[in-house]
Amino acid sequence: MEKKLILGIESSCDDTSVAVVDSDYHVHSVRTVSQTSIHKLFGGVIPEIASRNHLAWVIPALNAAVAEAGVTRDDIDAIAVTSYPGLIGSLLVGVSAAKGLALGWRKPIISVNHLNAHIASSLLEKPGRPALPYLALVVSGGHTSLIEVTPEGKKLLGETMDDAAGEAFDKVAKMGNLGYPGGPVIDKLAQRGDPDKYKLPYLLKNNNKYADEILFSFSGIKSAVKRVLEQPDVDIPSLMAAFQSRIVELISRKIGLAMSRRKYCALVVSGGVSANSAVRKMAENIAKKYQIKLFLPELRFCQDNGAMVAAAAMDDLFAGRFSELDFDVAPTVRPRV
Ligand code: KG4
Ligand code: ZN
Repeated sequence: MEKKLILGIESSCDDTSVAVVDSDYHVHSVRTVSQTSIHKLFGGVIPEIASRNHLAWVIPALNAAVAEAGVTRDDIDAIAVTSYPGLIGSLLVGVSAAKGLALGWRKPIISVNHLNAHIASSLLEKPGRPALPYLALVVSGGHTSLIEVTPEGKKLLGETMDDAAGEAFDKVAKMGNLGYPGGPVIDKLAQRGDPDKYKLPYLLKNNNKYADEILFSFSGIKSAVKRVLEQPDVDIPSLMAAFQSRIVELISRKIGLAMSRRKYCALVVSGGVSANSAVRKMAENIAKKYQIKLFLPELRFCQDNGAMVAAAAMDDLFAGRFSELDFDVAPTVRPRV
């Protein structure tokens, strides 16, 4: 099959990222401008600031990605861009840049769903693809969703009723003044702690109403952590180890529930929180238990990036499924402060 190249643009939250990816999912370049050092000052993403920075950095990131890949406009077969879900001001910048590029370079444009992009991040720089049907978990700062992928398409099996898992990591880190973003800080602290020292409640476990349902809830555990933080001489690494293990335990239980209902050929775990060491270990254990193939993105592709957007558009490119230039953006994600 002829090799094709897609230029992918991501700007749904606070990362401005452009990448060039080929149809073997080889990443020729990825240039990401992170705004973490700015939003860190506020303890969360400020949408207005995020969109203004996207505006400043999307063209430099684009030029750098094209130069690093060593390609010209003639080599690019399509432009892919995240159009939903995300912060509307942020999405608008990437989508407008992509539309301008598609128009100026006379290329087809493919509008990409951010969750599909996270799922596709597990294909980058890897041979093979998950056989159908497979189960995909997207676990990030904005989402905790279990998705079933069959020959008929994608079906949402369940998602969080309140906070996303990454949001819980960020909020708990903020409560403990541990830093931002919370996930990587807590992951590191937890490795030095004893998860059994503090008895945090099992999430949804004793709630019969939800025991047999594929859904998540992470907001309650924040109060439990808060109560411990109010005590004197808290062993922070152990508290974080207990917090992380409860989150991972709930995710594991709900994946297990989905697995018990249908035979899947593979498991995909993706999104910013899939960088978590305990989440990765849990995913490996489940894949081993059910003897299915596991697709986990490389660490550098867990957070938002343009390469996963290009990867998610690959099937559409080969099928000739392109978007009209007047497609809209749709916001759903609440700002995380
Ligand atoms: O996918 P992503 O870059 O953006 C969204 O689409 O939300 O995910 C960012 C989230 C943040 O909440 C961050 O705290 C979390 O991913 N995260 C982690 C880790 N690294 C990033 N959570 C837990 N453990 C980590 N190692
Ligand atoms: Zn994301």
